[in-house]
Amino acid sequence: MRIALLGGTGDIGEGLALRWAYDTDHEVIIGSRDPDKARAKADEYETELSSRGRDVKINGFTNAMAADRASVVVLAVPPYHVADTIDAVSDSLSEDDLLVTPATGIKREDDGFHYHPPKAGSVTALVTDAAPDHVPIVGAFHNLAAGRLADLDADLDIDTLLVADDPDAKETVWLLADGIEGLRPLDAGGLANASEIEALTPLLINVAQHNDGLHDLGVRFQ
Ligand SMILES: NC(=O)c1ccc[n+]([C@@H]2O[C@H](COP(=O)([O-])OP(=O)(O)OC[C@H]3O[C@@H](n4cnc5c(N)ncnc54)[C@H](OP(=O)(O)O)[C@@H]3O)[C@@H](O)[C@H]2O)c1
Repeated sequence: MRIALLGGTGDIGEGLALRWAYDTDHEVIIGSRDPDKARAKADEYETELSSRGRDVKINGFTNAMAADRASVVVLAVPPYHVADTIDAVSDSLSEDDLLVTPATGIKREDDGFHYHPPKAGSVTALVTDAAPDHVPIVGAFHNLAAGRLADLDADLDIDTLLVADDPDAKETVWLLADGIEGLRPLDAGGLANASEIEALTPLLINVAQHNDGLHDLGVRFQ
């Protein structure tokens, strides 16, 4: 499967790109607003993988060209730029594609990090409003720490919660998540349940900040 990571030059994009390229045979494509930046990051990821004996090709393109080449398109961009990013790639999204959103709205205040959803109710709802009607949306990877994903020496042993209204799209992303070693996908229901998942992320950051040794923590349900 071909996976485009829009904003794959950033933190969560790097983590997902490295894990998919290292653990699976899926083709990873890096998207950026700047194709030179995308190519430079793709080269950097290839070098990291090659140093670990994994020789794979990772290409970098503009976000629209990356989306055009993939059937799974991950919106690895800041939450308040998901709608602009969808607008920039919408002509590249066909009915056979699906959009994955890991984005969550967070506000940093003096007393800690707080969930700060957009008016739509959740970033996932914002994505749903912005996306063409024919493209199914899956929420996933919200509660993962990018640093832990990008460190291929780190064991994950964590869960990721999935929400979607389209069962086939959910199954596709479930399989993609399951392909990452140590990551267990769990079904959290439909898109209406996204805000509860997004709201977990600031909680995790607050816990990480207040407890030694819990930097880059994740969630395991048992
Ligand atoms: N970091 C984490 O641990 C983590 C974990 C789970 C979920 N998430 C979610 O994943 C998303 C990305 O997080 P991140 O930490 O990877 O963010 P980031 O590193 O700050 O940004 C990711 C990429 O977004 C692109 N970008 C920046 N400003 C933009 C704009 N105005 N319009 C369009 N694209 C823009 C940039 O790519 P180009 O400059 O190359 O276009 C950048 O490299 C967020 O929505 C976040 O909530 C993050």
